[in-house]
Amino acid sequence: MRLTDSYGRVATDLRVSLTDRCNLRCAYCMPADGLDWLPGPLLLTDDEILRLVTIAVARLGVTEIRLTGGEPTLRPGLVRLVERMAALSPRPELSLTTNGLRLAGRAGLAGPLAAAGLDRVNISLDTLRPERFARITRRDRLADVLAGLAAAADAGLGPVKVNAVLLRGRNDDEAAPLLRWCLARGYQLRFIEQMPLDAQHGWRRAEMVTAGEILARLAAEFALTPLPGRGSAPAELFAVDGGSGTVGVIGSVSAPFCAACDRVRLTADGQVRNCLFAREESDLRGPLRAGATDDDLADRWVRAVWGKHAGHGIDAPGFHQPDRPMSAIGG
Ligand code: 5AD
Ligand code: SF4
Repeated sequence: MRLTDSYGRVATDLRVSLTDRCNLRCAYCMPADGLDWLPGPLLLTDDEILRLVTIAVARLGVTEIRLTGGEPTLRPGLVRLVERMAALSPRPELSLTTNGLRLAGRAGLAGPLAAAGLDRVNISLDTLRPERFARITRRDRLADVLAGLAAAADAGLGPVKVNAVLLRGRNDDEAAPLLRWCLARGYQLRFIEQMPLDAQHGWRRAEMVTAGEILARLAAEFALTPLPGRGSAPAELFAVDGGSGTVGVIGSVSAPFCAACDRVRLTADGQVRNCLFAREESDLRGPLRAGATDDDLADRWVRAVWGKHAGHGIDAPGFHQPDRPMSAIGG
């Protein structure tokens, strides 16, 4: 069995949200006061996550697991979960999307996660200026993120990927400085267009810094050569100044890559989402807790993916932002 949808796409990349909580409050994601977190009893336990991930890998053809949040490093059992996922057969590729705050320092997770079998990390970094970082994320923690990036690289969790969101009037002058900084350290930078996934519903199409603008800003300072073979990867990749360094620009809104999408998501409370922007979810937690067999859970998962829409339709007139914010879906 595979996770095929009615348009012929096959989902092989499973994004698992481990928690909806976060230790930052990025303006494009959460309000300053945070959100009403999911109640504990609704969260899947480590064993429940393992059971579902095992079904996905062993029966449904999933080859890649990305752990996300909220902030996945806030989940107490993370290292052990990674270890158990790395022991699955066939072994999936394992990556983590994180804000980087908990990777370095005393009790830093980079080393233990690498030892447990994590392959790669994606770390969010929108600015190199401490005051701006504090304003955008509402926490004065830039130094911890920078230390986290270094710790990830040292631990062998590479190639380290950096995700940046540019916000008009806040950090949109940092496209080139961020790229220069990442190139010097061997990090692969990717800019992501801001999507309407914030809990506050504050996103405005006209205010979004588009992929075209980002490319124009970069092209003013670097020679960019498009690299072929985008495949299902959302980033339009460019070689920089003819060297080995690259930069990605993800036009999630202005140039959707839905037709090549190979993703499916599992929320921290056990719902399958076939798209970030889906308005329907399929519950696996209920059946799981009611004693469903692996066959039954796999069937439900297959049906959930079959109903995936052709695209997110952000630019269509009837577009409705999903009720769940990004922090409760997983990046
Ligand atoms: N639009 C685009 N990217 C977002 N992220 C979080 N919210 C949004 C949004 N509304 C990014 C984070 C992180 C990744 C998981 O998604 O910065 O890098
Ligand atoms: Fe946390 Fe990520 Fe949301 Fe920022 S974007 S508040 S790091 S979940």
